[in-house]
Amino acid sequence: MRFHWLFQFCAWIDQTPLSQWIQAAGWIVPLVQTVHILAVAMVLSSATMIALRLAGLIALDETPRRVVARFVPFIWWPLIALAGSGLVLIVGEPGRELLNPIFQAKMVLLLLAITATRWLTVSLNDETASGTQPGSPAGTGLAVAPSLRAVATATLLIWVTIIFAGRWIAYF
Ligand code: HEM
Repeated sequence: MRFHWLFQFCAWIDQTPLSQWIQAAGWIVPLVQTVHILAVAMVLSSATMIALRLAGLIALDETPRRVVARFVPFIWWPLIALAGSGLVLIVGEPGRELLNPIFQAKMVLLLLAITATRWLTVSLNDETASGTQPGSPAGTGLAVAPSLRAVATATLLIWVTIIFAGRWIAYF
């Protein structure tokens, strides 16, 4: 069997005292799911603000770089809470999560969203990409290159797809 080792790994996690404790205590999963959802809200709000600014729809008097710098920490910090709470949910029900193709797709999409978000931040420090005129300090331009606009919108769509995947795990 192709993923025999993964089955064995899940079976091993399942019988650890930590997993047994999570399974037995009825309050842990709902609590951790609440943390997960609150962190999702922060990530999505921040990604939306970034995408709207880069699409030229809000905060046009502020540089894209400044807007991204303001909101991007509210993507990175909640991601730590998401990874931690997600890990607890995995330990509690390893087979349900790790063997689920939707969960696996969600993790791939997450890597894509992280890479794209990092790319946006780095690109905005590049004065050409952020639309700055030659000779002016990096990141002072108000215009946004079409490539950045497209990536910010695509990244927002990836976050939304991740949310859909997160919910879909339960039904697949
Ligand atoms: C390393 C990061 C992450 C891990 C390990 C993780 C793991 C999980 C797990 C194990 C579940 C439970 C699924 C189930 O059994 O029904 C879940 C649910 C969910 N996840 Fe994540 N997740 C992560 C990041 C994210 C991110 C970045 C988002 C969206 C921005 C997200 C959105 C959701 C949603 C909406 C649910 C459904 C919650 C519910 O039905 O109560 N997750 N996640």
